[in-house]
Amino acid sequence: MTKKIIVCTNYRANPNNPSCMARGSQEIFAALTQQLAQENMPITVEESPCLGFCEIGPNLRLMPSGTFFHEVSDKKLSLIIKKAKLFLKQQ
Ligand code: FES
Repeated sequence: MTKKIIVCTNYRANPNNPSCMARGSQEIFAALTQQLAQENMPITVEESPCLGFCEIGPNLRLMPSGTFFHEVSDKKLSLIIKKAKLFLKQQ
């Protein structure tokens, strides 16, 4: 099965109702896509509907069945890329 990273880009306009896109997941998606391309990594990044952790977003996940990452910011991208490299080596 193809490995990928899914990024929740669900948006809710109501500020009392948190959502990953309202917390910057679109920018995370763009930055992650760019950095993975620079590293020439054979993994895709895809937008995802709500992953069920809206209170601690932006959220993303290694797929299939990989690690979740919560409260993702630019500062966490290098860690996520390291984990993705290990994930790619797994069967
Ligand atoms: S809105 Fe992203 S996990 Fe629910």
